Order: sequence, then C-alpha cells, then structure tokens
Amino acid sequence: MNMQVSIAKTPPPVLSVDGLSKQFEMHHLKRTLFAFEDISFELSEGEFILLKGENGAGKSTLLRTLYRSYLPRAGRVAYHTKEGIIDLASAADVDIAILRRREIGFVTQFLNARPRVAAEELVAEPLRLAGTPHAESLVEARRWLSAFGVKKQLWAAYPSTFSGGEQQKVNLARALILPQRLLLLDEPTASLDRDARKALVERLGQLKASGVAMIGVFHHPEDVEHLIDREIHLKAIKIEDGADHVAQ
Ligand SMILES: Nc1ncnc2c1ncn2[C@@H]1O[C@H](COP(=O)(O)OP(=O)(O)O)[C@@H](O)[C@H]1O
Ligand SMILES: [Mg+2]
Repeated sequence: MNMQVSIAKTPPPVLSVDGLSKQFEMHHLKRTLFAFEDISFELSEGEFILLKGENGAGKSTLLRTLYRSYLPRAGRVAYHTKEGIIDLASAADVDIAILRRREIGFVTQFLNARPRVAAEELVAEPLRLAGTPHAESLVEARRWLSAFGVKKQLWAAYPSTFSGGEQQKVNLARALILPQRLLLLDEPTASLDRDARKALVERLGQLKASGVAMIGVFHHPEDVEHLIDREIHLKAIKIEDGADHVAQ
C-alpha cells in the first residue's frame, strides 16, 4: 500500500515573546504606571498579527519594546535568526543597531526628515546600505514614491519642507522599500489619503507573501482584514490606589 503522509508545513518562528511586561516609573508622582503585563505570543514567517486595544492600552509601548526603544521590566523577546536566537530585551545595543538596519523595521506615520537630504535619497538609503548600487536604488526609490502618490516634482526636493501627508508617504516608501524579516507597524495609515492607503496595503500583502512577519496597529483595520492571521487585544491596566501599585 502506498501511504501518503502529508506533513503540515509550519512556517519557522521569527519572534517568540514570553512574559513581557513594561511599566513606567512616574517619579514626580511617586507612582508606577503599568503599560502591559505578561504578554506572550509567537509570530512566524509570513504571519500578520493585528494589535488591538483602546487608547492608552499600551499598543505603541509594546511595539517600541519589541523594537527595543524601551527596555521591558520582565520577559523575553526571542528573535530567531539562522544563526540562533537573540533576546531583543537583553541584546547589546550594537546588535540591535545591526538588526534594525537589516532585519527589523518600524513604521509609524512620522518621518525623520534630515536636513538637505532629497526625498529620493532618503527613500533609496536602506537599499543602498544593503549593497544595491546607487543608480539602481534611486530607480526603485522613485518607483515607490510614485506608488505612494508623491508628485514627481518633489522627488529631488527636501522633505523637511513637505506637508504632513507628503512626509508620511516618503516615510512609508523608505520604511517598506527593503523587505525586512520583521515589520512593526504603529498606525502607518493614520491620516493617509485613500490611494496611498491602497498602495500601502498592497505592499504589505506582497511583503507578507514573501515571508515578512508583521505585527501592527491600524487606524483602519478593515483595510488589512484580508491579511490578518491573529489578533492580540491589549487591555488597559487599571491602577488602583492600593499600596501594591504605588512605587516605593
Ligand atoms: N515614555 C513614557 N513615559 C511614561 N508613560 C508613558 C510613556 N509612553 C507611554 N506611556 C503611557 O503608557 C500607556 C500606554 O501608552 P501607549 O502605548 O501610547 O498606548 P496606545 O498606543 O495603546 O494608545 C499610557 O497611559 C501612556 O500615557
Ligand atoms: Mg499608540
């Protein structure tokens, strides 16, 4: 008898978060603010997790902690590489810097415009740093600026003079031009026009199909409904006046 065994192919994990907690010490108020407590989840290649929760629930703080802009109070953020596992919560700053350049992207609605750097150069930079020849990376940058609806006349201009919406589009083009392994998205579509939102969602779909793992908060979650594999719901932690919540 010819037995066929089908083995479900599970994509390899990218991130294993275990018992992650973050609190802010409000020294001037002599209190501790608990942003989130004991978060655990796993994110695999090509998976998309939608992060939900009311204002102040800790969504941005969780994303910033995963990106290591904040150090957690407790827990582990195991990032799986081909060479092994790196705990983002305790890795050296130099290793975090390398990962941010090559593998882990953070997308917000805000552009970090640098003086006297043209929009197309800013967008091309991640490709150039990854080794793509300058001319080629510029062609790709213009393609993405165009896809996000930045007018051609602006490509060689300085984004510091752009409107908020234009800056946001330059920011998205730069953040998404180089496929990363892990993308953290903090309301990237807030205040974007419909066409730019559409271009963004299309790009996220391509990235997901190519195996990029994503976790993010969306102002218009219906835009990305077809991409969502799982949801994580953060609840605001109520602080009572009890002594156990008061910082010493
Ligand atoms: N750097 C900080 N210092 C102190 N408190 C902060 C800081 N960042 C965020 N918080 C507080 O942490 C809580 C969660 O904020 P945030 O993560 O921005 O929520 P969300 O993105 O879900 O709206 C809020 O009460 C906010 O005021
Ligand atoms: Mg937020």
